[in-house]
Amino acid sequence: MDPPDRPTRVLPIDPEHPDARTIALASEVIRRGGMVAFPTETVYGLGANALDEESVRGIFTAKGRPEQNPLIVHIAGRSMILQVVKQWPPAAERLAEKFWPGPLTLVVNMSDAIPLVVTGGGPTVGVRWPTHPVAEALIRGAGVPLAAPSANRSAEVSPTRAEHVVKSLGGRIDLILDGGPTRNGIESTVLNLTCDPPVLLRPGPVSISDLEHVIGPVSRRSGPPRSGALPSPGLLPRHYAPRTPIRLISSRDEVFERTKMAIADGERVGVMAFGEVEGLPGECVAMPVDPGGYAATLYAALHDLDARGLDRILIESPPDTDEWLAVRDRLGRAASSI
Ligand code: TXA
Ligand code: MG
Repeated sequence: MDPPDRPTRVLPIDPEHPDARTIALASEVIRRGGMVAFPTETVYGLGANALDEESVRGIFTAKGRPEQNPLIVHIAGRSMILQVVKQWPPAAERLAEKFWPGPLTLVVNMSDAIPLVVTGGGPTVGVRWPTHPVAEALIRGAGVPLAAPSANRSAEVSPTRAEHVVKSLGGRIDLILDGGPTRNGIESTVLNLTCDPPVLLRPGPVSISDLEHVIGPVSRRSGPPRSGALPSPGLLPRHYAPRTPIRLISSRDEVFERTKMAIADGERVGVMAFGEVEGLPGECVAMPVDPGGYAATLYAALHDLDARGLDRILIESPPDTDEWLAVRDRLGRAASSI
């Protein structure tokens, strides 16, 4: 069912030094049970009071999100950790010391204060302390932890700019804080600490080797999701997909050939290739050659190409190495037809 139309305000905010009055206004929206989209260092989040069931339900309605998909709870400050978790294992403490605030989500057993709607009905909660000044100021201003998925409709590409949020959720949420483009550009690493060894549920800006340096062996999740509460909906094959069909191509020569052939068939083709794109046919986007730079611009490139009404998008695959794991994960899902 579609939620009733509501006016969505967009307020610009300085990403480094957020204006106190704007934060106070946004905090009030949260305390009254509303929804605020805000920048984090990864992607824009859609925040509501994580301790209030009704507020959190609003997120599921606005996004059209299946209710068994758990939400990440965003905190700022150590005292909030104990509000949302039942136990805080030593491994969580060591990781938090090293990577928080930052782009790492830790899945641990949840406290009774968290309504089940947040966790998709399960006993665990994903917790993250973001490092973006606007996100931190908003959480502190609201005085409550924020349940916040990425601020896009379910199964759409995550937003890295406020305009992506407007396009996807305008008329469905109360307020968007426009703090400019986000830095990392892909969602946080998600690590399940309730099993031994811990399991990587979603690769992200904090790499497996970063994690293993701190806590020892981490296993990569494999196999199909169990029924019931999904281990991580970010692992559903088609989770980050644009509308335009996408295909990953392993070599540059093949990108060239396939693009030429499709154009000869009368198609309009978008191309994402590394570095120099001169000489390539099609509507090309030049992507950075380093994994961090690539991740930072990936979703903006997909949003841009998807909006052009192309017949297909061909993407030159990144190398099959660990440093490209998080980017390859997102590209694989974007290209999945399931
Ligand atoms: O960077 C991010 O993580 C962004 C920003 C806004 O913080 N948020 C984000 O949220 O990407 P979302 O809802 O789009 O993705 C959350 C991921 C999903 O794959 C979800 O399954 C997983 O985290 N997750 C959350 N709680 C979980 C739990 N209790 N157990 C297993 N997975 C969980
Ligand atoms: Mg998401």
